[in-house]
Amino acid sequence: MGRIIKVPDPLESSFVPPQLFNRNEQIDYLMETVVLPAKSNMSSTVFINGQSGTGKTATLKQLKITLTDFHVSYQNAIGIMNFKTIASRILNGNLTQNYERGGYESIFRIVSRNIEKPIILMVDECLNLVKSDPDGLYQMIRAGELYNLHMGMILASVDNAALHMASAEIRRLGLFHEIRFPKYSMEELYAILQDRVARSLFPGVISDQVLIDIAQTSASSGSARMAIEILQKSAFMAEYKGDRIINVEYVRSAVSLINPYITESKLMELDRKELVILLSLCQSLEDNSSITLETLEEQAKVNFENYGMGIVDQSFLYRAIRHMETLDIISSHKQGQGKGAGVRKLLSMNDTPVGTLREKIYEILG
Ligand SMILES: Nc1ncnc2c1ncn2[C@@H]1O[C@H](COP(=O)(O)OP(=O)(O)O)[C@@H](O)[C@H]1O
Ligand SMILES: [Mg+2]
Repeated sequence: MGRIIKVPDPLESSFVPPQLFNRNEQIDYLMETVVLPAKSNMSSTVFINGQSGTGKTATLKQLKITLTDFHVSYQNAIGIMNFKTIASRILNGNLTQNYERGGYESIFRIVSRNIEKPIILMVDECLNLVKSDPDGLYQMIRAGELYNLHMGMILASVDNAALHMASAEIRRLGLFHEIRFPKYSMEELYAILQDRVARSLFPGVISDQVLIDIAQTSASSGSARMAIEILQKSAFMAEYKGDRIINVEYVRSAVSLINPYITESKLMELDRKELVILLSLCQSLEDNSSITLETLEEQAKVNFENYGMGIVDQSFLYRAIRHMETLDIISSHKQGQGKGAGVRKLLSMNDTPVGTLREKIYEILG
């Protein structure tokens, strides 16, 4: 190692710090709504939502470490289409596929036979799973009444999962709790960065001013992930150049490096239909800075047919646009059309080259 980085691990986004900043309120909430009820054998469910980098995963992993009196199953739901898969993995991989093929009743029977401690199930990045298997979600939330398996369930996603359920479905599910993880402020990001600097870098290699710069740049997204990645990339660059300090020029290069990556991690939050809608947007934006909803719908029709996805459902189109707006991939604004002609909605893309994005989407869609 050179003169900049002492310990590289704390600069990785998978690093779970021994102590989290400004998440006590959220942890207390999870304790009250899920953990304590589970201790007295009562089921409850909480949905966490919050932008990328607001500490959802870190909080869950941190919680898992502290809950030694519980059986905690942490699962990432990306690529999982069925809650049965989640249920059969509560036993930490001790169940074979055969059980997954059986009903919830047999899965839960085995689970309760084998686990003595109260169960906390954490399902991270749950949105596509919740959308693709609403009945499974019902089985899980109601497992107490239906199968006498009581557990505390925490489901996390960027977007509010309830927004993607029909209201009849929400009524059927009964009671669940929700908590939003807010974006981090400049000051909070600065504190998180300072802590990572102390853990990973040699003393004196980065000035307060440069650290404030990183915090300020990341404050627009409120993402600790972004802040830490800028720190990591600029540290690596300074190290590589044989420098003894991380100056603001390294930070600038790091920022330009992570932008396409951020977009990529956001794309992973979209399902196939949404990806096709985004693809349509990219294609329509090639020669225009913004387009109308009607133009997008026309283009989406063509692509839906090409990908054998049936017809474009307008309410789905609107929801997809909203979703991509919350992810900060696209933005919309209203434009007046002259006196009495009303307003129309125009869509555009946030600081991403549409050509690059289009190629990326082709790649994912296969
Ligand atoms: N409150 C915090 N204190 C310290 N580090 C944090 C905090 N919140 C997030 N981080 C760090 O920021 C990065 C991204 O956080 P993560 O929990 O993965 O975000 P999310 O799951 O919401 O996208 C991780 O490296 C995590 O350790
Ligand atoms: Mg996460």
